[in-house]
Amino acid sequence: MNLFAVQFGSPGDIDVLQLRDIPVPSPGDGEVLIALEASAINPADVKIRNGSITPRQGSTPFTLGYDLVGTIREAGPSADRFLPGTRVIGVSTLAVTGKGTWSEFVCLPETSLARAPEGVSPAVLAQLPLPGLTALQAVEALQLSQGAEVLVSGAAGAVGRIALQLLHTRGYRAHALIRRAEQTESLPAGVAEEVHIGSPPASCVDGVIDAAGIDLSAALRPTGHYVTVVPGSPPHSISEKNATLVIAHESGAMLQTLAELLTAGELNLPEPTTFKISEIEAAHREYERRLGRRIALVV
Ligand SMILES: NC(=O)c1ccc[n+]([C@@H]2O[C@H](COP(=O)([O-])OP(=O)(O)OC[C@H]3O[C@@H](n4cnc5c(N)ncnc54)[C@H](OP(=O)(O)O)[C@@H]3O)[C@@H](O)[C@H]2O)c1
Repeated sequence: MNLFAVQFGSPGDIDVLQLRDIPVPSPGDGEVLIALEASAINPADVKIRNGSITPRQGSTPFTLGYDLVGTIREAGPSADRFLPGTRVIGVSTLAVTGKGTWSEFVCLPETSLARAPEGVSPAVLAQLPLPGLTALQAVEALQLSQGAEVLVSGAAGAVGRIALQLLHTRGYRAHALIRRAEQTESLPAGVAEEVHIGSPPASCVDGVIDAAGIDLSAALRPTGHYVTVVPGSPPHSISEKNATLVIAHESGAMLQTLAELLTAGELNLPEPTTFKISEIEAAHREYERRLGRRIALVV
């Protein structure tokens, strides 16, 4: 049997994306075979497609995609955490492994997966894995005490929105930085102590999470901790011991924490615009119009 996958040979514009037939993958040791239900488009998919990032492993043609919502079909040797038929969420760190999720069937390590929360549509659930893991790993990298004030840039984006909510549930005082006033509508309700529009406040916070790739050093108290999720930052003015660049790693345990917060109503995800995965070019064009909308891809 052949399956479809969204692949590209040489990096370039949206039209390099192709739906191709690929052989059925076979789960290796500790892996499971998952039937994809939904995924989402993230900035890294665009950067890999256009050649700004080259995956560290694998070779062309690459299958794109980080996020995954799907159903376990088969377990490989020594994989025993999930029974076939279990719905799961997961992330494949494509820039590291060269393995993407935009494929009818995907093999991933079972340790990268968590049981999917019930009662949430696949399209909405697909907004959680990569942005959620990145936000959680950024919040954990802060290493600040409860009550500390933390500024989040890109707060209306996928990572920023989740970071704000996690900070709130963990007892931090979250400040949101957005670029434009109308982005206030995209902020999760009731979690930001203060919303800053256009520019960061002057030297007032104990920690920052940069999810926009901008210099927030002027807002940080001298001993504060600077966390960024955007390669290329943090700025040189921040000492190495006070700075962390978070590159999200796969973690089923952390995804389980995020799934439980979603079930408990402590995390809210945006309602995405949904495309069939066969409409991949149209989906990318919509994403790149930068309307601030999340895009879900469904099978
Ligand atoms: N390290 C990792 O493992 C990892 C994982 C996931 C994401 N990321 C990176 O984290 C960043 C955010 O990802 P995301 O999924 O949250 O993206 P997103 O949904 O597109 O959100 C990005 C947000 O940042 C804002 N922004 C971008 N450039 C800005 C600027 N110069 N000044 C002010 N605001 C700006 C955007 O506002 P506009 O809509 O006005 O542009 C948007 O609200 C991306 O660079 C992405 O590549 C890294």
